[in-house]
Amino acid sequence: MKSNLTLGDARKAILTETLEIVSTVWEGFDTARDVETPVTEATLALLSENLPEQGVAPETALHQATEVLDQSMAQSRPRFLAYIGSSGLEIGAVADFLAASYDINVALDARASSMLEIQTSRWLGEFIGYSNARGLFTSGGTISNITALAAARHRAQPTVRELGVTTPMAVYCSAEAHYSNKRAIELLGLGSRAIRAIPIDEHHRLIPEALEVQILEDIANGVQPMAIIANAGTTLTGAVDPLRAIAEIAARHGVWLHVDGAYGVPAAGTALVRDLFDGLDLADSVTIDAHKWLFVPKACSIVLVKDYAALAATFGHNEAYMPHAGEEPNPVDVTLEYSRPLRALKMWLGFKAHGASEFRDAIEANIWLARLTFERAAASPLYRTLTNAPQLSIVPLQHVPLGMTDPALISAHNKKLCAAIVEDGRVYLSPAVIDGEMWLRPCFTNFRTRPSDVDVLFAVIEELGASLA
Ligand SMILES: Cc1ncc(COP(=O)(O)O)c(C=O)c1O
Repeated sequence: MKSNLTLGDARKAILTETLEIVSTVWEGFDTARDVETPVTEATLALLSENLPEQGVAPETALHQATEVLDQSMAQSRPRFLAYIGSSGLEIGAVADFLAASYDINVALDARASSMLEIQTSRWLGEFIGYSNARGLFTSGGTISNITALAAARHRAQPTVRELGVTTPMAVYCSAEAHYSNKRAIELLGLGSRAIRAIPIDEHHRLIPEALEVQILEDIANGVQPMAIIANAGTTLTGAVDPLRAIAEIAARHGVWLHVDGAYGVPAAGTALVRDLFDGLDLADSVTIDAHKWLFVPKACSIVLVKDYAALAATFGHNEAYMPHAGEEPNPVDVTLEYSRPLRALKMWLGFKAHGASEFRDAIEANIWLARLTFERAAASPLYRTLTNAPQLSIVPLQHVPLGMTDPALISAHNKKLCAAIVEDGRVYLSPAVIDGEMWLRPCFTNFRTRPSDVDVLFAVIEELGASLA
């Protein structure tokens, strides 16, 4: 490609410009914006342009791209409390730039980078207390979950790759498991009716006794239990299922236990809530999204398994153009993807530059913010909270205008309020339906969020809540 970046001076100029932009952006992320920047007429015009046949000066294009990004919703900002966001850890962004510059493909053995991926997955296992495991980086929790569940399906029916699913199987998870697990079961050809939504207790945790009753019933009806999916932090409320009790049931019935810890499992690395994850080490596989509560930029997830050979049995091929050098399977033989970027680099650099202890501290700080939010709301007549304090860092709450008691009206009010908060732009929140009612659902997974941002959260809810009531 004939590029105007091939000359030394042009390269330096664009790097200098990029450096300037990124350092301004990072400074901008340190504190929240008072309002979101609107999408301007100029941007709308830019984004309706046709394919450019000729290029412009790279600096011009770079500034246009920056305008677009600046008028976008960035999860890195401290008051982005919706969903379960990432926070664009700076060294992680640098890692992405580096990895993209080298453009290494870790589908096959890429020498040192492949070793780095193995080392980083080992560090992650160590961080969360999941020993003797090996893992791979994927593009997200959705893909990590389907990867693990594909291995579980192969373990349950080893002829599945040739014959498909030959006899009925069932998969067990709490009624509040993330829907990526349902998608995985649909895609794996079991059909969504294979999913058994096990009831949850008042802490929104799967009830192990109900799980075992369902497994016994399925076995009696000739249905083979394929996998149990336990939550290590549900998306709705941050509930951590009782992992040890579930693991004992899995072992009793010889069923693969997958832990979906996409959001919550990094908290297993903290002294503050480690006990909640007791039994994690007994699972066959675990999903961790580094792009959620390990703060690195998207997309970066890890699926860890105890039996690495199970992945090779599930995904391996021996293609003529990819001969194997030795016993060790290539990453392409143990995952869904072929071309794979070096996603591990952002986590590796993150651990090297900050040390595991800074990650533990940042996760604990988020949990403290969640506790602060819960206590403050629970102490005020203006709010309803769930009965139990948050297990991790998600705090569902409802604003309750004075005198409003009808749950349906409170739900409707909170739905409108959430839309008004998003429109207002000082804080970004998402709504969630919990136990049939509409809740505001602040999620604290951003290392930039401070107690002063929680003050703003309450001020905005109360100001807009009063104006709507
Ligand atoms: C518990 C859980 N599992 C899986 C996912 C899907 O992860 P991803 O968006 O990385 O595909 C999410 C996303 O929020 C989640 O909370």
